[in-house]
Amino acid sequence: MGMKEDRLFSQWETGIVTHSAKETEAVAATFAQSLPPDLILTLAGDLGVGKTTFVRGLARGLGIEEDITSPSFALLHVYQGKRQLLHIDAYRLKQSSSFDDLMVWDIAQSPWNMVIEWPERVADRLPADHWKMKATILADGSHRFTLTRP
Ligand SMILES: Nc1ncnc2c1ncn2[C@@H]1O[C@H](COP(=O)(O)OP(=O)(O)O)[C@@H](O)[C@H]1O
Ligand SMILES: [Mg+2]
Repeated sequence: MGMKEDRLFSQWETGIVTHSAKETEAVAATFAQSLPPDLILTLAGDLGVGKTTFVRGLARGLGIEEDITSPSFALLHVYQGKRQLLHIDAYRLKQSSSFDDLMVWDIAQSPWNMVIEWPERVADRLPADHWKMKATILADGSHRFTLTRP
């Protein structure tokens, strides 16, 4: 990984604060351009913190032009841009074994990235080397995104 990426990711590890959905989309699009391929990024945080908004920006950064909507009912949406993007919302998964029914490892075609909202639901299904993003809303109404890498 280059020096430019190292600096970018260390800023994300400190926490990036945004003040609008548009700003979140813009920083997520930049993030996507440095994200390694064939990697899972989990997106944790309460309802409305901006997880799907972040994915919308990430998709734009991967050259995906389709509208990004929450896969709350479908559980999985698959998009193709410069890379394949698998977007999972695990909120409605009753047990983590339901993750297996999504067959993501049959669907994934390198280069891919997988983003998972509500990763707590499927924790025991995720490989140890995934990256984690945690989103929170601050007292002043801004949104903070904090990255953890293994
Ligand atoms: N700085 C911000 N970043 C992300 N979303 C924001 C921000 N400020 C306001 N919002 C709004 O908060 C909501 C976040 O919704 P969404 O991305 O669907 O959250 P989640 O997927 O975490 O439930 C959207 O209505 C969005 O417009
Ligand atoms: Mg969502």
